[in-house]
Amino acid sequence: MTVIKEYSEGRTTFLCADVEHYSRDQGLATSDLPVFYNKRMQLNRDISVLFLSAYMKKNPIDLMCEALTGSGVRTLRYLNECPGEFRAEMFDVNPLAVEMVQKNIELLSLEKRALVKRGDAKELLMTESRGKRFDYVDVDPFGSPAPYLNAAIQSLNPRGALLGLTATDMPALCGVYPRVALRKYGGSSIRAPFSHEIAVRLLVGLTYSVAGMNDYSIIPLAALSTDHYIRVWFRIKADRITSNRQADSMGFIRYCPNCMHSESVSLRSISPDSGFQHQKENCDGKVRTAGPLWIGNLYDSEFLNLAGEMLPDYEDSFHKRVPRLLELMKMECGLMKYAYVDLHELCDLHNLVPPKTSAVMEELRNMNYRVSQTHFRPTAIRTNGPVSEVARIIRNLTGEG
Ligand SMILES: C[S@@+](CC[C@H](N)C(=O)[O-])C[C@H]1O[C@@H](n2cnc3c(N)ncnc32)[C@H](O)[C@@H]1O
Ligand SMILES: [Zn+2]
Repeated sequence: MTVIKEYSEGRTTFLCADVEHYSRDQGLATSDLPVFYNKRMQLNRDISVLFLSAYMKKNPIDLMCEALTGSGVRTLRYLNECPGEFRAEMFDVNPLAVEMVQKNIELLSLEKRALVKRGDAKELLMTESRGKRFDYVDVDPFGSPAPYLNAAIQSLNPRGALLGLTATDMPALCGVYPRVALRKYGGSSIRAPFSHEIAVRLLVGLTYSVAGMNDYSIIPLAALSTDHYIRVWFRIKADRITSNRQADSMGFIRYCPNCMHSESVSLRSISPDSGFQHQKENCDGKVRTAGPLWIGNLYDSEFLNLAGEMLPDYEDSFHKRVPRLLELMKMECGLMKYAYVDLHELCDLHNLVPPKTSAVMEELRNMNYRVSQTHFRPTAIRTNGPVSEVARIIRNLTGEG
């Protein structure tokens, strides 16, 4: 008999295996729980509730699917907290999880809208979408969503659908295991201060490729990088003409740790380290090259604005970090061509004391550069100004110029 506990998240109450009872490690969720639930992923689910609501404002959905559901909390929250009467299917390979989800469906009186099935996600995505394709597929697995991507994309409504992907295999994506990234995501990761952005772009690049193989195009709607995971939301539809055009958004990001200059370059136009313009005079640092990966947009500003309009409806039940994260996403949205510069790392490189980020930003604005903070890192900025100029500004501000 599983020891069960009642939990509440957002505006939803549900049952799950008692995490404290089963974990040896201070209540932390581990993959050997009888039924998986990780409280620390609440922020991910809060933003997912918000983004699904925002998406549905323009694209009402009829049927969604969560391919790896655990306790079901994510989809139960969608059904309970998002507007509309859409239906949902939930899958899990673990029979105890399926039993728990069924209990939760009954507890929330969602029998008419929710269905849970036991089995392998890849198989069920294909078979369950035969009659009617999904308008939203959510893939939130342990580790990488890559193994489920092809089935997930093939299960989507070709007229247009939402796809949400979470990845938690950060060592591969952030440059600790570049070969693993190449194997799983089709592009090398690198160690860099902006490695979490590279992680997102590797996942978007893989999604572009798998979608493209199936004659689908992608629009990245939003990306989230926080704690120990990344998450990306896409609108996907059958459209090979657009997908062909999007080939120009596949490329490399090159970065020199010696001077912190970085730039992106289209795959179609280069040999990996030709023409890399180091910002520091006489810099002969060895260039690191990430990719092939996605170098196009990661946000859709209209989508983020819609999410912002809907946020007041949810704010009382969401994690307190949600409003600020959304605000930062909106701010950085127009500057995604420029990899972020971590001011503390730049100061370490030049032996400088970090000044206030706001002071650096103001100086850049005074020089007519565009600049914003980024949700990826509190100590970083994005700007169209060169990193050498940022270093010069810091030197002036700290009186070491
Ligand atoms: C990270 S948990 C899901 C968490 C859930 N999405 C949430 O937001 O709480 C991953 C789940 O996938 C299930 N799982 C693992 N491999 C699977 C497979 N091949 N097919 C279906 N489910 C699988 C596990 O039993 C586990 O419940
Ligand atoms: Zn250099």
